[in-house]
Amino acid sequence: MPKITIAFVGLGGIASQAHLPAIKELGFNVDLCVDVDEYKVKSFIEKTGCKGYSDYREMLKNENPDVVLVATPNAFHARIAIDALENGAHVYIEKPMSVSSEEALKIVETMRSRDRFAVVGHNGRFDYRSSTAAKFIHRGNIGRIYYARGFILRQRGIPPAPTFIKRDLAKGGAVYDIASHAVDMLLYLSGYPKPVGVKGFVYRAFGERIEEFGMNYPQPPQPGMVSEVEDFGSAYISFENNITMYVEVSWASYVKENRMEYVILGDRGGIQIDNSGLSYMTSVEREFLIATPPSIPHVNSHKEAWRRFLTAIERND
Ligand SMILES: NC(=O)c1ccc[n+]([C@@H]2O[C@H](COP(=O)([O-])OP(=O)(O)OC[C@H]3O[C@@H](n4cnc5c(N)ncnc54)[C@H](O)[C@@H]3O)[C@@H](O)[C@H]2O)c1
Repeated sequence: MPKITIAFVGLGGIASQAHLPAIKELGFNVDLCVDVDEYKVKSFIEKTGCKGYSDYREMLKNENPDVVLVATPNAFHARIAIDALENGAHVYIEKPMSVSSEEALKIVETMRSRDRFAVVGHNGRFDYRSSTAAKFIHRGNIGRIYYARGFILRQRGIPPAPTFIKRDLAKGGAVYDIASHAVDMLLYLSGYPKPVGVKGFVYRAFGERIEEFGMNYPQPPQPGMVSEVEDFGSAYISFENNITMYVEVSWASYVKENRMEYVILGDRGGIQIDNSGLSYMTSVEREFLIATPPSIPHVNSHKEAWRRFLTAIERND
């Protein structure tokens, strides 16, 4: 198998803190690195020895990479992914996959017509709790699924960076940032039922108060910062076979505690994933039983996502 050439487009927080360590642990390196910010390119060259570019189109034309990571602000995901697929690369697109369903469908169409892989950075599904729950549910242990819900609720968690809070770059706020993870998780756990309808609401309650409601990623909030996008979103989604899902996310809200929770209900059992772990509820004869694993091994979900992606490319399956 010839060496796989990997290009990173967008060299910010997630590329340097999650993707670079993940591929390095798997024995790969970044060969080509692209960012519109020259300083970031320079620092990546120093760190990895990659060949640097400031324009991804020039990089694609000159280098023909095998794999392209798209880790830019959301607004550019689809354009870069489609250009990379058309140039013959497999793509790993950070979430959200795109900022419209038209763009998403175009990515899928291009991936199919070029016979390439395109994966989206929904790495949460490779977490031990999620992958264990999925195996368990998919073996039929909770019976017929009728309802699922997902919460990702933060008290003070607006990410204070233009990538997330400027409308022209992010296109949306908490919904694109964290509901994308929540919806993917619920669909994955419940076996991808077919959606038939959705009703959703978004609110921007704390956009002028980032100094108070901002988090520390990628750096502390700066005085005068304003978020132009929503910080709360909720939606009811209905599916074929009378399944419904409810999703609620907030970057900031007056909730009692930060909360991450996924619940999948079936007629033979239920699954709950939350900050404290994974629980399975069922009946044994007529007794209500709650079972939990004795420990939750740490899995680097970004590394697991890359391992599966690169293995699929190497095996071409
Ligand atoms: N999977 C996860 O859990 C997770 C976590 C954080 C971020 N993300 C996603 O990753 C993406 C990037 O987030 P981040 O935290 O790294 O943001 P960031 O602002 O730290 O980095 C984005 C980088 O893209 C560069 N860039 C902008 N336009 C470009 C272009 N046209 N070509 C090349 N580079 C360009 C910027 O200069 C910047 O260095 C976002 O879409 C975000 O939703 C995913």
